[in-house]
Amino acid sequence: MSANIVTNASLFKKRILLLFGSPHHVGNTFRLVMQLLEQLEENSFYLEQFDLFEMDLIPCTDCQNCEHGLCCYNHIDHYDDLIEAVQHSDIILLASPVYCAGFPAPVKAMMDRAQQFYVNQFDGRKNTFPQRKKGFLLMTGGNCGERLQEYLTIPTKMFFDCLNVELSGKVIVGNTDKTQKIEADFTDIIASINAGPIEEEE
Ligand SMILES: Cc1cc2nc3c(=O)[nH]c(=O)nc-3n(C[C@H](O)[C@H](O)[C@H](O)COP(=O)(O)O)c2cc1C
Repeated sequence: MSANIVTNASLFKKRILLLFGSPHHVGNTFRLVMQLLEQLEENSFYLEQFDLFEMDLIPCTDCQNCEHGLCCYNHIDHYDDLIEAVQHSDIILLASPVYCAGFPAPVKAMMDRAQQFYVNQFDGRKNTFPQRKKGFLLMTGGNCGERLQEYLTIPTKMFFDCLNVELSGKVIVGNTDKTQKIEADFTDIIASINAGPIEEEE
């Protein structure tokens, strides 16, 4: 019986939301994302993409209005659309190059604005994103060692946590200064995606 349920569940297409943070439409980060998507089962997912360099997100100014509701900039710069896309997706992919040991400004702006769900006095995170989801980090860096790779998971986890998303895997390719060849092992990410959604405890 349970095997049947699993089989039927796998017929449903997953909705993958790609938060894309590279200015290069066909650069290293794009190639890394494509490698993952090509390794997922054909026709097993829908893809929605937000190009963060094209969104002109307003940086958080700590105006503190979000203590009384959500951010007042949301409908000015279409952060609203991004919120809706997170709500409707099953899986979040955050893809970005490393900039100055961190994230490019448009990605950082998106992350900082998620603070609205953390501080909101009406518990913005649970109200806005009631369902816990899986998220994955894909990054490329010119010369990004293991220590920096580990460090980059900290802001990612904080951002994901604001969206009620669990960082369920990461691939960071750290040597793009030396080679244009992107070599990545997606075994764990693919297994996690195929395993389905997070089982919430009662
Ligand atoms: C402004 C800037 C800052 C960067 N800082 C770093 C860095 O701190 N560490 C690193 O490993 N690579 C750094 N890089 C290199 C990029 O992360 C790397 O070239 C990446 O693969 C570019 O991806 P893309 O082709 O998708 O833009 C930097 C690049 C730029 C333009």
